[in-house]
Amino acid sequence: MEMSQPIGVFDSGVGGLTVVKSLWEHFPQEQIIYFGDTVHLPYGSRKPEEIIAFGIDIVEFFIQHKTKAVIAACNTSSSVSLPCLQEKFPVPIIGMIEPGVRAALKVTKNKRVGVIATKATVESCAYERTFLASDPETQVFSQACPLFVPLVEDGRIERKETYQIARSYLKPLQDAGIDTLVFGCTHYPFLTPVIRHVLGESVRLVDPAHEVVRELATALNLNGHRGEVPEHLFFASGQVSSFYTAGKKFLGSFPFSVEQISLNEKEGQDSAGREEGPEQRRTSASS
Ligand code: DGL
Repeated sequence: MEMSQPIGVFDSGVGGLTVVKSLWEHFPQEQIIYFGDTVHLPYGSRKPEEIIAFGIDIVEFFIQHKTKAVIAACNTSSSVSLPCLQEKFPVPIIGMIEPGVRAALKVTKNKRVGVIATKATVESCAYERTFLASDPETQVFSQACPLFVPLVEDGRIERKETYQIARSYLKPLQDAGIDTLVFGCTHYPFLTPVIRHVLGESVRLVDPAHEVVRELATALNLNGHRGEVPEHLFFASGQVSSFYTAGKKFLGSFPFSVEQISLNEKEGQDSAGREEGPEQRRTSASS
């Protein structure tokens, strides 16, 4: 493995950018290749077999780009497909669940932890299993929040309806007396101001992204040296304009542009099988 090889990061949409931001803050010299599988979004309402198949295609794409490691910056993919991807591919693949549990256990005092996540993640019970394996005394209260992902993808954050939806999702967790809440979906940190407003200051909010970056650094022995800032590549499988708008708002001044790419078309052919160059199949958005 060469240290200059890129790191692949993927999600169903813009959610994984929360992990990218954390990576940039700690290791700005690392080149990132990001894939947002927006054509299949949301993953959270899909069957495990589909989510696994998407993960395989994406990691194959990263392997073609010679990535030295992959972050499944998607809790849904991590909870249903991580063991399969780790077994199939020869690169380190890091998921969200174990780092999220570790981060929560560091801060909870009353061991009553809430997890908000997609329907598929909640149904997988991946968080419950992982908490149980690490600390059987912890009580986990999970809540699926299916409306959060479309709100984030559409950039509808500071809206009255978003606060109302957040209140109704979070009420059972407040009633359960949690002192810690894990963002069990990488889209949810976009909603931090809304969730913080609803829960107040007494509940600790845990974004697993920082712990994920720490795990990656250990796995690759990253040392944080300041080299040249490389050019990052961002791809989305669906339309790039809304991805770009939502992502840009979150990433602020970080340089960001997105290219559309379809993974299941063979290189050099369009979906109708005609020969064409890659440029013809790609549209892009940038600042
Ligand atoms: N951001 C993803 C996650 O962490 C999934 C969102 C979705 O596509 O449902 O679970």
